[in-house]
Amino acid sequence: MYKLFIRPFLFRLDPEKAHHFTFKYLKMIHKIPLVPALIRAIYQVEHPSLHRKVFGLDFKNPVGLAAGLDKDATLYQELSNLGFGFIEIGTITPKAQPGNPKKRLFRLLDDQGIINRMGFNNQGVEAAVKRLKKNKGVLIGGNIGKNKLTPNEEAVNDYLICFKELFDHVDYFVVNVSSPNTPNLRSLQEKEPLKQLLDALQTENKGRKAPKPILLKIAPDLTNEQLLDIIEIVQETQIAGVIATNTTLSREGLSSPHQNETGGLSGKPLTKRSTEVIRFLSEKSGRAFPIIGVGGIFSAEDALEKIEAGATLVQLYTGFIYEGAGLVKSINKRLIN
Ligand code: FNR
Repeated sequence: MYKLFIRPFLFRLDPEKAHHFTFKYLKMIHKIPLVPALIRAIYQVEHPSLHRKVFGLDFKNPVGLAAGLDKDATLYQELSNLGFGFIEIGTITPKAQPGNPKKRLFRLLDDQGIINRMGFNNQGVEAAVKRLKKNKGVLIGGNIGKNKLTPNEEAVNDYLICFKELFDHVDYFVVNVSSPNTPNLRSLQEKEPLKQLLDALQTENKGRKAPKPILLKIAPDLTNEQLLDIIEIVQETQIAGVIATNTTLSREGLSSPHQNETGGLSGKPLTKRSTEVIRFLSEKSGRAFPIIGVGGIFSAEDALEKIEAGATLVQLYTGFIYEGAGLVKSINKRLIN
């Protein structure tokens, strides 16, 4: 139904308008009595074999929504009804910011990809907290970053602000240093600044009665040497795991008209590389920490490949846009088998 009727309509709209339209539509239909229950009955797959206990948290299934879709925590409940086992909100910054000028989101139809240079448009941490206070049992990841105007030397403070504000309202944290759309953010992936950032967060975390899992989200464009550094840093700072991967700067093998737009590329062109990164991290670390696998999952087979490469959980973004909520269901059903 999605690919036959809904997608052709949505894909005729400007991508960002389609996003806002879908959010409004999903919010609206969820206000109709019995509709949430009906949506859950259609999309949710429940089975004990789908349960995962990872970094101390209980996931009802291993298929999550990746960061960037529900940046401001406005739709996590409705998205959870569509079958996701967990929802990652953000990237959230301390203060609200508009992001980059429009147009900043492009569909690469021939390549089944997306290029985005959104630039952490979000309403700030306070607005997210207000909405998360209403959460009724959705497992939430809080993906945090820094404001564009905060210099890298003061970045630690931005991450700490988000961490402290969100602490009571999310189940795990993701430190995002891998978005290509905030100038110089990716240089925080270098060994020394990254260690400092994670140490500062862990110090704050370990001072709490019940510390929360902190994960690091990395770019697919890191070299093997940099990936080996990441393994070392994860172990030294004792963070809970890694999310691999964010969007890529590579434009290899594309044929769509928008291929030369600036920004991060996601979707099918990323599938192979993100799986390679997962496999490398998993093998070289001896499966020392959990990995959430994300990047170009468009089918149950793609998800299984990520799991076989070493991912414990998976996340979707672009595949969800192209395939619809049926994709979440088909992955979960395949995992039962
Ligand atoms: C993203 N992604 C992203 N990641 C992140 O950590 N913080 C963010 O704010 C965003 N924003 C965002 C916006 C848009 C429009 C897209 C398409 C993606 C990256 C996303 O979470 C994921 O890591 C990559 O897109 C790769 O997965 P897919 O899309 O190929 O399934």
